[in-house]
Amino acid sequence: MLFPARPSFQSPTSTSIARDPPMSNPVDPQPHPPTSKASAKNPADSARRSFLKASTVASASVVAGLTTVRPVRGAEPQNASEEPVRIGLVGAGGRGSGAINDSLTINQNVTLSAIADVEERKLESVRKGTAKRHEGKVDVAEHKMHSGIDAYRRILDDPDIDVVLFATPPGFRPQYVAEAVDAGKHVFAEKPTCVDPAGYKICLSAHEQAEKNGTAIVTGTQYRRQTNYVEAIKQLHEGVIGDIIAATMRYCSSGIWFRNRRPEMSDTQYQVFNWMHNIWLSGDQIAEQAVHNIDTMNWIMGGPPESAYGSGGRFTRPEGSEMWDNVEVDYIYPGNRLVSFMCRQIPGTQGDNSNIIYCTGGRCTIRGGNSGASIVDRDGKEIWSMKGDIGAAYKQEHKDLIDSIRNGKPIVELKNTADSSMTAALGRMAAYTGKNVTWDFATNESKLDLFPKDFDIDGPRPEPEFAIPGKTPLI
Ligand SMILES: NC(=O)c1ccc[n+]([C@@H]2O[C@H](COP(=O)([O-])OP(=O)(O)OC[C@H]3O[C@@H](n4cnc5c(N)ncnc54)[C@H](O)[C@@H]3O)[C@@H](O)[C@H]2O)c1
Repeated sequence: MLFPARPSFQSPTSTSIARDPPMSNPVDPQPHPPTSKASAKNPADSARRSFLKASTVASASVVAGLTTVRPVRGAEPQNASEEPVRIGLVGAGGRGSGAINDSLTINQNVTLSAIADVEERKLESVRKGTAKRHEGKVDVAEHKMHSGIDAYRRILDDPDIDVVLFATPPGFRPQYVAEAVDAGKHVFAEKPTCVDPAGYKICLSAHEQAEKNGTAIVTGTQYRRQTNYVEAIKQLHEGVIGDIIAATMRYCSSGIWFRNRRPEMSDTQYQVFNWMHNIWLSGDQIAEQAVHNIDTMNWIMGGPPESAYGSGGRFTRPEGSEMWDNVEVDYIYPGNRLVSFMCRQIPGTQGDNSNIIYCTGGRCTIRGGNSGASIVDRDGKEIWSMKGDIGAAYKQEHKDLIDSIRNGKPIVELKNTADSSMTAALGRMAAYTGKNVTWDFATNESKLDLFPKDFDIDGPRPEPEFAIPGKTPLI
């Protein structure tokens, strides 16, 4: 067993509905300890896991018919009006409770039927909070609430569950999604879906397997369903302002939360609890937050870039954090089109969440959240604009998932999101090492696998170490 069953641990985190951190200061009220001194080692050095192999073998069992994909109740026409589609939530934190709220709000005849989280206290809190908002749509018996590091497995093993919604830290995502696909479940997977090349390969294999199974995978890249994004990008693709020459992407804010360690936590429990600051779990801000901009750019450009060259550093992160304060990357997309990317989380700095696309006949600006989109011609005259409604987009992804299952045409979109997550990892690899890194190298040759191969939730972990360009090796 890759993740041995262990006692769950407790923490004081809140379970309020979460979206990506707002552009105003989202810093946790706990004070940041001072920044630690530099270290030369890349956290990837110790990372190797055997999961990829295990996943491939497991997926092969579905192909061989060893695992049966059970038809989803509610997808069968004769039962559609009677049987609800039952959702199991894995990761009952801020976004998990937000995502299940979105699904139950927009969909009829669906229920939250099981909850899993490493922390036991999260379970009741989410069950109670969700039941309060959604009368009659929460049906989670005591024995359907699972805690501990292998809690997700109880949901995958549960024949009553049709759809599994994953909102754990991203480092777990590739493995969990692959196992869910192998168990014949439909999946909703939050972004990013991987944080390294090894996880990317698992995602590609899971995507393929879901297509063979006839099971859905929808991902938490809500901007793909946000009307102003869709309309702006449609016009770009129609050539309304000519050919795309270059673009900028910015995801800059004034900070992110940091969770202090509690005395009873093992090293690994603490890293999972404070996951944002451990690269094997979050992928750093370029993957964790800015993947939204990167996903938008891959969508606009028609696929991932050919190469990345970047830089960055850290001045303000607390001791124990592996995150950088800022990352800048020049991505080269096919057709020699440059996309200049920047993300930053530094207190007191000006926020910006925007994508600006420069074309032969004008410029298109698409801002994150509800900030809208516009197109101007070469003289700067506005020729189109539209407001944004991110709340509607957050719900639409859950409607599309359930509708696609009920229609018998399950959406499988993991590859696109894995491409975008890998594009973020590519940019991080370039910036951390100070080298020009190609997509081809990162996806075909790189051996980078950040997940601890000796993962034990109760066990020790090496001290967090952050990357130093010129010393951190390109693996
Ligand atoms: N689409 C969006 O706009 C959006 C917004 C916010 C967060 N997210 C994504 O949602 C995910 C979770 O973010 P969050 O803000 O909810 O974090 P969070 O820390 O609030 O919640 C994570 C939850 O997962 C639990 N957990 C950790 N490891 C687990 C494991 N192995 N098995 C089961 N449970 C585990 C934690 O105890 C916690 O309850 C991240 O990938 C994040 O990027 C997406």
